[in-house]
Amino acid sequence: MKRLRIGVVGAGLIGRKHIATILASQDAELCGVADTLPADDPYVRSLPVPYFASHRELLSAAKPDAMVIATPNRLHVPMGIDCARAGVHMLVEKPIADTVALACELLREAKRANVRILVGHHRRYHAQAQEARRIVAGGRLGKLVAVTALWATRKPDPYFDTAWRRVAGGGPILINLIHEIDMLRYLGGELASVAGVTSHAMRGFDVEDTAAATFAYANGALGTILCTDAAVSPWTIEQGLGENPVFPYTGENGFRFLGTAGALEFPQLKVWSSRDPAKVGWDQPLASEPVKVVDRDVYAEQIRHLRAVVDGREAPVVSGEDGTRTLAATLAVHESARTRAPVDLARDYAAIDDASR
Ligand SMILES: NC(=O)c1ccc[n+]([C@@H]2O[C@H](COP(=O)([O-])OP(=O)(O)OC[C@H]3O[C@@H](n4cnc5c(N)ncnc54)[C@H](O)[C@@H]3O)[C@@H](O)[C@H]2O)c1
Repeated sequence: MKRLRIGVVGAGLIGRKHIATILASQDAELCGVADTLPADDPYVRSLPVPYFASHRELLSAAKPDAMVIATPNRLHVPMGIDCARAGVHMLVEKPIADTVALACELLREAKRANVRILVGHHRRYHAQAQEARRIVAGGRLGKLVAVTALWATRKPDPYFDTAWRRVAGGGPILINLIHEIDMLRYLGGELASVAGVTSHAMRGFDVEDTAAATFAYANGALGTILCTDAAVSPWTIEQGLGENPVFPYTGENGFRFLGTAGALEFPQLKVWSSRDPAKVGWDQPLASEPVKVVDRDVYAEQIRHLRAVVDGREAPVVSGEDGTRTLAATLAVHESARTRAPVDLARDYAAIDDASR
């Protein structure tokens, strides 16, 4: 079968990861890279494929089947629209856009052009995430009652030398919490409403360093999540899975899913239930069972999946519509913190449904 010809725009931190992944892939071939870096930059010179000064040049000269868009957030939508108009499928890094309205513009263009969008919530491809989804949806915990999640780490001080990380949009809500909210949706079901509070008391920058939210699932379950980049802790998915060498492995579980018949710790997958499954109650001794799965390279899996989606063999694990719903729920934490009122997500979801029809 023909490999998928992929271009990458944005050869920064995550773009280079995608480039290395595509170069090593059996499913895809890298047909070009675009960035604003000078052509004599050592990284650019090391590229074994044509280099372009803009994504438009890449689109017209290299004629990719699909594009990875790994540029700063504000460029995702205009670049994505150019790809759609050129009939090119895309993997857009998260967040799909800065706002739900902009994301909807991209969804509409993609629909019109009949091109597929994947959003780069790569954690959904972990074997642990897919198994956890099966455990929750398969009823092993009974009916889902509640979820509690924690993502907490202390970003090193030099991280904040970069100006955009100290102002609105550069904080842990849009950079980190969005991944956790995506995981809460992927594992627990659709969110119906969100209420949030934020604080910048630890660093005193304009941007938040800590956020907490309560949320209601459409299925009736409730949840809480706490996210901070100012506290030392072993509880991030990165540490729990060892997915990123920057975060030394702890194997700890930051997420807990609680059901009428049992509980699940995630990402290390420990299921708790009554020792005697016929008896449920606080007087019953509990037993825990580790669930063993073999993880994989999620970036490689994401590229394999992109090809399968483009070929029409698989439904998207994270479609543009799905990524926009995650964005809506994440922005709701900011909005609720500002207005001091919970946010009902129904209006955003209606706009997203309308843009994807
Ligand atoms: N999935 C993940 O875990 C993950 C991790 C990191 C970043 N991201 C997302 O990826 C995107 C990029 O983040 P990053 O950390 O790699 O940023 P970065 O600043 O390291 O890289 C961005 C790159 O885009 C290039 N660029 C800027 N304007 C351009 C233009 N007009 N045309 C072509 N190239 C242009 C820059 O020169 C730079 O090389 C962001 O949306 C971010 O949220 C996702």
